[in-house]
Amino acid sequence: MTNPIITIDGPTASGKGTVAQRVAHALQFHYLDSGALYRLTALSALREKLALEDEQAIACIASHLPCHFKGEQIWLDKEEVSDVIRAEEVGNAASKIAVFPGIRKALYSLQRSFSKPPGLVADGRDMGTVVFPLADLKIYLTASVDARAERRFKQLISKGFTANIDDLVKDLAERDARDKNRSIAPLKPAQDAYILDTSHLTVEQTVMEVLQQYSAISVKK
Ligand code: DC
Repeated sequence: MTNPIITIDGPTASGKGTVAQRVAHALQFHYLDSGALYRLTALSALREKLALEDEQAIACIASHLPCHFKGEQIWLDKEEVSDVIRAEEVGNAASKIAVFPGIRKALYSLQRSFSKPPGLVADGRDMGTVVFPLADLKIYLTASVDARAERRFKQLISKGFTANIDDLVKDLAERDARDKNRSIAPLKPAQDAYILDTSHLTVEQTVMEVLQQYSAISVKK
């Protein structure tokens, strides 16, 4: 029997990270934050002063990424970088390197290695469409750009970064366009995804909805 997998995809700041972590916690499943892997790769590339178009060199970094996850902490080699990778500069660099097929492919096996018993909740852009196409439940979270900018603003301020709402709206719109229009693994709902607009939902309501969807399919099996 294969391990159950729930994928939660959606645009940046749609709340998928928080929702996925809570769903994983409720079900006692493992959790994969695939965006963190793109951010870690981007951070390494920035630190090594590589051009963000250098697909080959960055794919090489991605295939040997010395990362590990300890609870909520994210480590790159011997350094805890959980907050450092959340900076907008790193997020934008992650979105830029994520357009390259070689870099995406270099991260596939690392992402798939997170699928272990008793199950996995994976969040990202292409979890349901490319990385785990046979997932048991696929969720696609959306929210308006304004709702997402406000959430990202609060998240950045709480981590001690400075932020400006207008810049965030512009950044999010640009990042959405890049994530949706790239030729490989563009951000889009899987054909069999359940689409959930969270603009007017709390995190708790969204988590409940995902858990209900999961128990509905578990009952059918
Ligand atoms: O989810 P996030 O904001 O941490 O992701 C940062 C960037 O990484 C995002 O703009 C695009 C890229 N990404 C991706 O292309 N595919 C994924 N599965 C996850 C993230």
